[in-house]
Parts: sequence; structure tokens; C-alpha cells
Amino acid sequence: MNQKVSIKDLALFEAQEIELKAWVCQFRSSGKIAFLVLRDGTGECQAVLNEESTEIKSFELFSEISLECLVEVQAKVKKWKETFELEVSQLKILSSSSNYPIAKKAHGVDFLLDNRHLWLRSKRQRAILKVRSEVMRYIHDFFQRENFVQVSAPILMPTASEGTSSLFSVDFFEENQVFLSQSGQLHMEAASSALSKVYCFGPTFRAEKSSTRRHLLEFWMVEPEMAFYSYKETMDLAERFVEYVVQNTIQNKSEELEILGRDIKKLEKIKSPFPKITYKSACDILKKKRADFTSGKDFGALDESLLSEEFGEPVFVYHYPKNIKAFYMKEDSQNSDLSLSFDLLAPESYGELVGGSEREDNLELLLKKIKKHDLEEKHFKWYLDLRRYGSFPHSGFGLGLERLVCWICGLDHVREAIPFPRLYGRSFFEKEG
Ligand code: 4AD
Ligand code: MG
Repeated sequence: MNQKVSIKDLALFEAQEIELKAWVCQFRSSGKIAFLVLRDGTGECQAVLNEESTEIKSFELFSEISLECLVEVQAKVKKWKETFELEVSQLKILSSSSNYPIAKKAHGVDFLLDNRHLWLRSKRQRAILKVRSEVMRYIHDFFQRENFVQVSAPILMPTASEGTSSLFSVDFFEENQVFLSQSGQLHMEAASSALSKVYCFGPTFRAEKSSTRRHLLEFWMVEPEMAFYSYKETMDLAERFVEYVVQNTIQNKSEELEILGRDIKKLEKIKSPFPKITYKSACDILKKKRADFTSGKDFGALDESLLSEEFGEPVFVYHYPKNIKAFYMKEDSQNSDLSLSFDLLAPESYGELVGGSEREDNLELLLKKIKKHDLEEKHFKWYLDLRRYGSFPHSGFGLGLERLVCWICGLDHVREAIPFPRLYGRSFFEKEG
């Protein structure tokens, strides 16, 4: 019995006989010699069958090979140029595959999304998933190094945390209705009063009827919350965090980013500190760039692109008007029209990457805001308790994983930044019937 190996380890087995199970992702023959490109999830390699070194029965089996069938080969590992290939002595087809739907020709996006479960096998999608996994690793790594405690936030929620218009409701037995969480923030605030620096990292849901290249119905968000941090200290943390994740990911995943055709130079220069401008100066910039710009509203995709174009690096916009931001954001004691909030806009038109703020820690002001936002006070009793029993200054932010992955990979749309995207306008997700 030959030793079972993975493609990524072939270099360790040069000149040895090995066994490998893998899918066939390309094949061609020129009569006396046949080539397979094999993929086992750890990499790809070429396997060569020829009349001299391959058993005759195995050689004849080549005619039954089809795209994405599963094979087992017994082979010798040989160095070939800069890589390693397999000189096959025996070939077995373990599992057939007929008429694999994703051929080499270009397919439309809808077709690929219908076949997302198979599309994931392509080289490009595998590269994205590896980058995503690395980004997730460095997100945890950053907060663990900074002595944050990871706290899991609940998914079923009695009420909105980010605004009632984008809630997904769920039947809750006979008597009631609950909602899928839009953010873990409110519960992180409770955890922060117990553990000081905490973060959650999990799926969040927004019933937003937006078919843009930045919106998902279900996305992953990392949300740190820190006791005794001002919004300014929080921006400093956010920029160190983004730099850390970007720099480590591009260092460790250069091969994958090359497959994606990403211009790494644009990412290498992502170094903190990032520019920080007030909402008011952002509006002044936009007025010069767009005749039809009106201030006082949240920025749209075009505004965010124009701002990121101006700076060419991530830029913080802070001090948004309080009436366009969430109920929990603390108002500025110098100007009660403003909130101590900030967004971080990604370069290259990738839009809002981070949203954060100092939290309202004054019980009366918070009660007023809950009413003003038409939220039901009874659902926030527990949240208000945090202001009743030792209210503390605290701040935090949320970063959308898919937006970060989209930017790092240089993708056109967030749908490729998550393994199984849930998108507005697709009433079914995976192919049916
Ligand atoms: O700005 P948002 O809505 O902030 C919050 O949810 C806060 N409670 C976070 C906090 O302070 N703990 O969302 C934060 C980030 C955005 O900047 C964006 O990156 C991402 O989440 N995001 C989305 N990503 C994909 N699809 C969507 N529909 C998104 N909505 C927000
Ligand atoms: Mg936001």
C-alpha cells in the first residue's frame, strides 16, 4: 500500500510512490499520453498517464474520465519545472460525474448562483474562500492579542437594534413573534460591563430591499465593545485592527490574491493612521464634487465613492447628525445636533466598512431616544438597566466581514465574499426542482 498524501504535501514525497484521491478538473489526451489535472481541496497537480508507466487497464480507463469525477491514483511523485506532478501507475474511478453543469465557457451570474454549491469548486472561488478564512482568523487573532473576551451574541431578538425597517421576523411558537438579530451590539454592551473589552463575531440579518453590490440579507459582523473608550479611542482601535487584518492576510495569502488578479500594492500601503474628517467637511468636499448634493442625509454609494476617491486610503467620517443615526449613539455635549459616531469608508469605492460610536450612557436621554425612534420601551428594560446600575462610558464598532473580504480580494460584488449568499431578489437560494 502506498502512502496516502495530499497535493499540498507532494514536495515531501519526491520520487516516492503515493496514493491520492482527487477530483478531475481538466483532462486531455494525445493518444499515447494523457494528462489529468487533479484537485483534492488542498491544491491542484498534473497527473500523467502513458503507455510505458501506466498499467494498461488504467490507461484504457482514461476514456471514461469526465469533468469532476472522483479518482484514486497510485503514482510516483516527480519534480516538473517549479512544481510536482504524478506519474500514474494505476487509476481507479471511484465516483462518476456526467454532464457537470459548469463547463469552461463563461456563464451568467444567475446560473452560477443557482449552482453555487458547485461553483465553489472553481479556482477563483476557492481562492476567495481561503482569503475569507484567513481574514476571520486574523480578526480573532487581533482581538485575542488585545485581551478582548469573545462573547457570543444571541440571534433571536425581541426587537430592533438598528432600525425597525430592516427586521426579519420569525414565528415564535403560537403566541408571539421575534426577529433575527441585526447586530450583537446591545448584548455586547451588557457583556462589556462584566468583562470590559469584549467582541462578538457572527451572522447578522438585514431585511433590506437593496440589490446593490454591497448588500447581503445575511452577513457576518465583528463587533468589539469597550468600557471607558471614547469614540476617538475607538477609531484608533479600528484603524489598527483594519491594518493588522489587511497586512497579515496579504502576506499569507499572496498566491490566492494573485489568482484573483488583485493589485497587492494598493493593499500594502494600507497603514494607520487613516485620515479623519467630520461629517461637515465631508459634505463640503461632496458639494464641490456633485452639484446635486444635499447635506443632512446619510451618504449614498456614490458619495462614499467620491470621498474614498479623494483620499485613496480608508477614511473616517465622524460627527454625523444624530437624527440620521441609531438611537443608542451618544450625542455630542458641545453640539446636541451631532452624535459621537463614525464610519470608516474603504478605498476603491468599496463603501462603508465600519460603523461605530460612543454609546448613550445617560438614562433620561436614552429613554427619550427610544421613544423618538418609535421603539417599545418594554423591550429595552434590560438594556436600560445598564444605565441604572453603574452606567459607564463605552464605545464600539461593527465591521462587515464580506465588505472587508470584497475589498481585500478586489471583487465586484459581495455575493462572492460569502460561501452561500442570501440576496434580495432571489426568492430561492440554492437551486430547486
Ligand atoms: O453600520 P452598521 O449597521 O452598524 C451596526 O450594526 C452597529 N450596531 C455596529 C456596532 O457598533 N457594534 O453595520 C456595521 C457594518 C457596516 O459598516 C458594513 O460593513 C456592514 O456592517 N453591513 C453590511 N454588510 C453587508 N450587507 C449589509 N446589508 C450590511 N449592512 C451593514
Ligand atoms: Mg452604518
